[in-house]
Amino acid sequence: MYKLMTMESGLKYIEITNDSACGKIAIQGAHLFHFARNGEEPILWLSETSDMEHGKHIRGGVPICWPSFGMSNPELPQHGFARNRMWDLVNIIEVDVGTTQVIMELNDSKKSRREWEYKFNLQITITISDELKMELKTTNLDTKTFKFTQALHTYFNISEISNISISGLENKPFLETLTNSNQVQNGEVLFNSEVDSVYQEVDSEIVLKDKNRDIKINNEGSSSVVVWNPWIEKGKRMSGMCDEAYKEFVCIESANAFDDAKFLEPMESHTLKVTIS
Ligand code: BG6
Repeated sequence: MYKLMTMESGLKYIEITNDSACGKIAIQGAHLFHFARNGEEPILWLSETSDMEHGKHIRGGVPICWPSFGMSNPELPQHGFARNRMWDLVNIIEVDVGTTQVIMELNDSKKSRREWEYKFNLQITITISDELKMELKTTNLDTKTFKFTQALHTYFNISEISNISISGLENKPFLETLTNSNQVQNGEVLFNSEVDSVYQEVDSEIVLKDKNRDIKINNEGSSSVVVWNPWIEKGKRMSGMCDEAYKEFVCIESANAFDDAKFLEPMESHTLKVTIS
């Protein structure tokens, strides 16, 4: 079943319920801000103090960072413009009693071409089932080649930051952005201070290990993964999150960032896909 809902603030979203899971997707940003298997704790974290209104980005769920990750294109806002735009709903498909697919797209407009000159089609297919799948397809509709970086910036809901570890990144090179140094991951990723790292050459399953459950993350069309937790000081400065919120989430972002930036010729497409189970 699905319903189009409107929050008091006017923010519109699609609520999906089926025999496997529940999901909520804001039309602004095609932003999935809730996903939980029936009877289980949510897999995605959403800040209790997040802005939930047009023009402001949601703190939690899965922001779509596009066509630039971080400040890689200094002419664009941080993480690009797609997360703050109104997307078009293309289709909702009830595949079976436990699987619902939502397809949304964003096309270039006069406004987008003022910020980023290219013609494009960006399409996301979000599959709500006992696993969560997101496929983000970029098509170059321009006559020139373009370069872009992107991320499905997933905020995972965790029991407590000190309880978790991340495997699958062992021995991978990464850019530690806090000191701007190139390093190699030694063992699992653990958290006892701020982490903001861009891993490269990632080619295997990533597992987020928590006290009572493991979450598996499989990326396709991507070899870069960003791991982020703001910790105490940065957490206090962040919009849409309270001082203690850093304990409740970790971001593991399926990306094409830094050395993994993509170039598309006219009419070429690239798909970034993540399966979370
Ligand atoms: C992460 C970056 O991807 O996103 C961090 O690596 C950044 O540096 C974080 O702070 C959140 O960004 P924003 O724009 O959503 O506050």
